[in-house]
Amino acid sequence: MGILGTGIQDGLLLKPVTYPWAMDLYEQAVANTWFPNEIQLGEDLGDFKKMTDEERHAITFLMSYFNPNELLVNKALAFGVYPYINAPECHLYLAKQMWEEANHCMSFEYVLETFPIDRAAAYDSHVTVPSMAAKEEFEVNFIKRMTEETLDISTTEGKKDFVRNLVAYNVILEGIWFYSGFMVALSFRQRNLLRNFGSLMDWVIRDESLHLQFGINLILTVLEENDDLQDPDFAEEIRQMIINAVEMEEQYNRDLLPTGILGLNADYVNQYVKYLADRRLEELGFDAHYNVSNPAKWMATANDTLQLVNFFEATNTSYEVNAQSTKK
Ligand SMILES: [Fe+2]
Ligand SMILES: [Fe+2]
Repeated sequence: MGILGTGIQDGLLLKPVTYPWAMDLYEQAVANTWFPNEIQLGEDLGDFKKMTDEERHAITFLMSYFNPNELLVNKALAFGVYPYINAPECHLYLAKQMWEEANHCMSFEYVLETFPIDRAAAYDSHVTVPSMAAKEEFEVNFIKRMTEETLDISTTEGKKDFVRNLVAYNVILEGIWFYSGFMVALSFRQRNLLRNFGSLMDWVIRDESLHLQFGINLILTVLEENDDLQDPDFAEEIRQMIINAVEMEEQYNRDLLPTGILGLNADYVNQYVKYLADRRLEELGFDAHYNVSNPAKWMATANDTLQLVNFFEATNTSYEVNAQSTKK
């Protein structure tokens, strides 16, 4: 029996653990438990009031995007990932991840409460700003394959839809789009502004780097265990999804930073997006597509790149090796 499955009475006994990487990530996630109220934002409120309109717009825009999308990730896990997996160690991890996404949502609510941001206007943006709405629409279309259609995980097409959804949420939304926002959010700390908000983001990023490792290991395992997914057309489709996602992010970042703030403009952010997309492509076993340097070298490299794993390559790697290779 592989990692995929829908039997309710399967996967009720944890030991022996079949996928040690999932157990290891669960333990790391539990060790990384934190609460937003541990961070005081009072000092940052003073910074926020002194910032320019475009700087405040950028923070508001990020909150507008992050907040609904943290909850959207949970829908993708609940409807698109958890039901099709039977390994109990994966279920443990996904339960912790879902709490973390809830905790991220509450962290951004805490920011919305603390800073003078009009919550209703911020909430509206995810449907009224076309570049933001387009990203959400892209994601929603993948989860609809599970909620509005029937997904049979025993078929090749069902397994492909499962992988497409993981790529859309884990690799693209969490692994590229969120990281581009994290970089902009942390750029303020580079200028000695919003330092406590930066600490809050550090905690979120620590969680997200585990989410990314879990998702990538899960994709790798599903591909290894299912020969029918080792197909060049499917591989090309996945590669193209990532390239399309970069184009969507470029437009979004032009709306995020219409004219640019001190030390940062949309081109700078978009170069970082391309750098990130190349890392994700390589983690999936593809060649880099953009071949650009990292403009934001000050972002901890440990947070935005993973050890390479060869996804779409024919050679099989053992799960134990994978567990080792993704350990920091
Ligand atoms: Fe999150
Ligand atoms: Fe996440």
